[in-house]
Amino acid sequence: MQEQILILDFGSQFTQLIARRLRELNVYCEIHPYTKVPKITPDIKGVILSGSPHSVREENPPQPNLSEIKGKLPLLGVCFGAQYLAHFFGGEVGKSNSREYGRAHLEIKDKNSKLFNDVADDSVVWMSHADTILKIPSNYKVTASTHDVKIAAYDIEGEETSCIQFHPEVYHTKEGAKILKNFVYGICKCKGDWTPASFIETTISDLKTQLGDEKVILGLSGGVDSSVAAMILHKAIGKNLHCIFVDNGLLRKNEFETVLESYKHMGLNVKGVNAKDKFYAELNGVSDPEKKRKAIGKVFIDVFDEESKLVTNAQWLAQGTIYPDVIESVSVKGPSATIKSHHNVGGLPDYMKLKIVEPLRSLFKDEVRRVGKELGLDENILNRHPFPGPGLAIRILGEITPEKIRVIQEVDYIFIEGLKSHNLYKEVWQAGAIFLPIQSVGVMGDERTYESVVALRAVSSTDGMTADWCHLPYEFLAKISNEIINKVKGVNRVVYDISSKPPATIEWE
Ligand code: XMP
Repeated sequence: MQEQILILDFGSQFTQLIARRLRELNVYCEIHPYTKVPKITPDIKGVILSGSPHSVREENPPQPNLSEIKGKLPLLGVCFGAQYLAHFFGGEVGKSNSREYGRAHLEIKDKNSKLFNDVADDSVVWMSHADTILKIPSNYKVTASTHDVKIAAYDIEGEETSCIQFHPEVYHTKEGAKILKNFVYGICKCKGDWTPASFIETTISDLKTQLGDEKVILGLSGGVDSSVAAMILHKAIGKNLHCIFVDNGLLRKNEFETVLESYKHMGLNVKGVNAKDKFYAELNGVSDPEKKRKAIGKVFIDVFDEESKLVTNAQWLAQGTIYPDVIESVSVKGPSATIKSHHNVGGLPDYMKLKIVEPLRSLFKDEVRRVGKELGLDENILNRHPFPGPGLAIRILGEITPEKIRVIQEVDYIFIEGLKSHNLYKEVWQAGAIFLPIQSVGVMGDERTYESVVALRAVSSTDGMTADWCHLPYEFLAKISNEIINKVKGVNRVVYDISSKPPATIEWE
């Protein structure tokens, strides 16, 4: 039985962070919307109520059904969760009139509170709320305050319920991890059995049962998710896994050959399909990035469909779906507007009639990497930067031609290899080169040139939702720029993108 913590989501932007912090403590957890509290089973060792953009004082505040939870299981209320358990159980929440955003210093009032075991007095915590708890019921006990907030934390006597108005999950709360650890280990008595090794063992055994002798098809992209999904399926069903790796002609220089070789080296049953010409034909004359995406998606499905038919009797399609996609689809707020619909290229037509298997659907990205590492995934694939599905098509502004692809592949190659040889690759979250639809004047030798401009982009980020441009050393940029102009025919100017996201995006499209 896999022990777990249930996180009820009230829509806070930080809910996923709570889950990630618990997973880092080797404790499995699931996020469910507060409107759909799952059945409480013995594997659930405790429950966390998340923060929320809502207020308990609004007309129809979120009201979860806690009848099987409060007083029966360890419970941690965070921010809105804390206000909810005060306001609706005999206390009072009002509008805050002091500063309750950002850093504050914790004064622990009850040294016996298990939640603050070993947490230093004066520790920095991060607040973010417009409401505040004004009064708590008589069986509640204040366990911590801050300068501005008297009831920063409380316990409910006679229950294993602890509440905090600050956010333990954010990086700025210095001892946040310790507080969460106290909850899951000290109060919920979790054993910490969620490790890459245990995930692999359980998943392999489950996949064996689920798939039996049936054949599975999987589209590899060269990215971490599909590669890890392939490896774990391979361990479970061996040759019954049929991988297809399509060369759309929009990958990085030498990428197709190198990655295919790594896959073969890993023992995967993989077929490389060169479909470049089909993609180029469909992209011919297309400038609009959304139309490029549609064209690429369409050809991909055609090629994939054709290749899958060659695998006789395939019954399953494996996908590298990961947990953030799953949460997104059941989110309290509904699908997030910030996620582009096209990010998961390759929704397959219904007529393929394949059953879907998603071995990584409970994992966060960093966990996929940990699992990949444990499975012995090639370092080259494990640590690579994210790369968009439509590839260089959205890094060439305007129409795509084989010549522009050649140029941008060469430029990108020099940049990426340079980052690697200067030990900068791992510091950067994502990097690449963009072919701009303009030409500019230059001089080379005694001649005037009129050639293309390329932009280099390197960003730091954790999930691609926000990003900052990397402050790469000037000497490095100078060297790379020189090398590009000297070696890549057709380029006479290099610029470096110094925009953050938002308001810019990572890709130029
Ligand atoms: P933007 O440009 O929106 O990109 O800041 C955020 C992250 O998403 C990647 N990206 C894509 N990935 N298909 C993908 O699989 C796409 O169409 C696509 N567009 C952007 C981008 O590379 C960055 O990592």
